[in-house]
Amino acid sequence: MEQLLALEMVRVTEAAAIASARFMGRGEHDEADRAAVEAMRAAMDEADIAGTIVIGEGERDRAPMLYIGEQVGRGHHEAAEVESVDIAVDPLEGTNLVATGQGNAITVLAASERGGLTNAPDTYLEKLCVGPVAAGAVDITVSPSENCHRIAEALRRRVGDITIIILDRPRHEDLIAEVRSTGARIKLISDGDLSAAISCAVQGTGVHAVMGIGGAPEGVITAAALRCLGGEIQARFRFRNADERERAVSMLGHAEEDKVYRTEDLASGEHLVFAATGVTPGELLQGVRFFGGGARTHSLVMAYRTKQVRFVDTVHMFDRDRPPAVRL
Ligand code: FBP
Repeated sequence: MEQLLALEMVRVTEAAAIASARFMGRGEHDEADRAAVEAMRAAMDEADIAGTIVIGEGERDRAPMLYIGEQVGRGHHEAAEVESVDIAVDPLEGTNLVATGQGNAITVLAASERGGLTNAPDTYLEKLCVGPVAAGAVDITVSPSENCHRIAEALRRRVGDITIIILDRPRHEDLIAEVRSTGARIKLISDGDLSAAISCAVQGTGVHAVMGIGGAPEGVITAAALRCLGGEIQARFRFRNADERERAVSMLGHAEEDKVYRTEDLASGEHLVFAATGVTPGELLQGVRFFGGGARTHSLVMAYRTKQVRFVDTVHMFDRDRPPAVRL
């Protein structure tokens, strides 16, 4: 199941990447996002799945497409005999990055058998993400400085030789000061803690952990990716207001901020599949490159059970079947 699903899913992230990459550097945040959502939605309906969106663009009354609970895929629309899957999407992680022409924007989704992805409310999560070597060594309930030392020890390095990624936000002032006090190096990013977390789990990227508060939906997709890669995420919900707490009670059955969610809690599926495509050039994935009559994309596709990580380099030939223009 995973092999075919992975191929179907990468076609979906590729379509969204091509559509949103057209908006690189144009300052049009909403349009870039809309293009990704529409392309992702259209590509999903051609896929041989009966999918249910569990993490998407929001509630049905607020999002016209890819809303929570939306049914997607040929299975629903043509009553085809196909796999039932839950799908978590971030059609464009890094809307600002695309709008300003910066690197590391991706289109991304995770899929699983029904019930395999936490239906997280659109709030914040405090996250601690590490790759396979430091997995099992960290603990979100101890101080960030203690975790820096634990990560360094697991990696058999001096703490000054590890690099922690943190979203550059005023809420992280204390965290940044504490990590700096250990001597660890920091990479501050303007956006994109999901793609940052994947980088931590890939050797050679030069980054070793993500710490700090970011989007909860992104946290669930991060968990799917890290589970496929053998990395780890630990997380705690951080609610901004009473509405978000209420929403958490209805979706999770509680609004506790102390409860620690681990990788398998957020993405528990056995048949997990993850796909991401680069939109703008990044550390892990190249951005979309357009050429006369087509485009080339670079994607990461993984399946948990098959233990396979694939980098997919695709040439999309838009004009192949169009007759050449007649020159007079
Ligand atoms: P988008 O999907 O909206 O582009 O989110 C980008 C992002 O930077 C995430 O990577 C991160 O988890 C979240 O936004 C952080 O939220 P905030 O900008 O509110 O700090």
